[in-house]
Amino acid sequence: MSSTLFSMNLVNFGGFKSQEFKEIVCGISEEAAKPNVVDFFPILRIFDPQGARARMTKHFRKIIYIFDGIVEERLRLRALDEMDTKEYKDVLDYLLEVMLEENSQISRIHVLHLLLDLFVAGLDTTSITIEWAMAELLRNPEKMQKLKEELEHVLGKNEKQIEESHISNLPFLGAVVKETLRFHTPIPFLLPHKSQQDVELCGFTVPKNAQVWVNVWAIGRDSSIWTNPNEFMPERFLESKIDFKGQDFELIPFGAGRRICPGLPLAYRTIHIVLGTLVHGYDWKLVNGQKAKDLDMSENFGLTLHKAQSLQAIPIKTQH
Ligand code: HEM
Repeated sequence: MSSTLFSMNLVNFGGFKSQEFKEIVCGISEEAAKPNVVDFFPILRIFDPQGARARMTKHFRKIIYIFDGIVEERLRLRALDEMDTKEYKDVLDYLLEVMLEENSQISRIHVLHLLLDLFVAGLDTTSITIEWAMAELLRNPEKMQKLKEELEHVLGKNEKQIEESHISNLPFLGAVVKETLRFHTPIPFLLPHKSQQDVELCGFTVPKNAQVWVNVWAIGRDSSIWTNPNEFMPERFLESKIDFKGQDFELIPFGAGRRICPGLPLAYRTIHIVLGTLVHGYDWKLVNGQKAKDLDMSENFGLTLHKAQSLQAIPIKTQH
């Protein structure tokens, strides 16, 4: 994400620790999903009785501080005309161009908050999808093998890297990604929506202004829609036209309609390419003598659905 947004690897930025960054992003996700009494009694808002706003503000301040340093550095380089423009045609550069236009309505604070939105929305979701996919593949070695064979068939046994153009020729990889998004949907209730008018739905009235949460997690495990919903079976998608792009309501990990995730194309590319690279290039061994079938697959609830126990596995370069 940091490479796409501002051409740098945040892990190496100014001594900043990736672990610390991860903790902030996870903290935001957890905080956002905690029930807050203020949502039911808005009059209590100024008292912040659970301290949620105070904690959230602390997280946001830390990230905004880091981003502000990056923006400052980029503005300095632009002013000195030291930038190799080819190197820096990234999201930040486009945003700064708009910001620096005469009479621009986009200010530095807007840029910082947009970067924050993109980061918080894009980082965690993409990485946990890959983590769940790897965990399921390790637990299901025959599916891992099938995927390895497909990748080997398309990419060959040499060191060829998977690229975006390969994705359409890798149906089993696509099926693994879809099945992961069904079974471990990263944002189990989407983001909160609000109905703009009274709506009749299946005999119920959803009143105007009601906050609406869509339980995508339950849809993904509904036995009236999916056979063996609690099993990881990528094959179910090989013969099916169901996709996650918002047209098939059985599978809407990115939402649907006007509020559908704007990062879908980026997530699509990133997940397929990273997962393909991990599986094609390496064999994986679980740490501490763990057995794949005993992997803890319990979920940790937040705005995003994490694995309660992080997956820890050691890569061993595949000898083709
Ligand atoms: C597996 C990866 C991802 C999943 C599952 C996912 C899912 C979602 C979902 C469910 C929503 C809310 C849609 C709704 O309420 O109907 C959303 C919103 C959003 N996503 Fe993603 N997302 C992913 C990756 C990304 C990436 C990579 C970015 C940015 C680079 C991104 C940026 C956003 C933004 C900015 C919003 C808010 C849109 C709004 O407020 O209307 N997402 N995403």
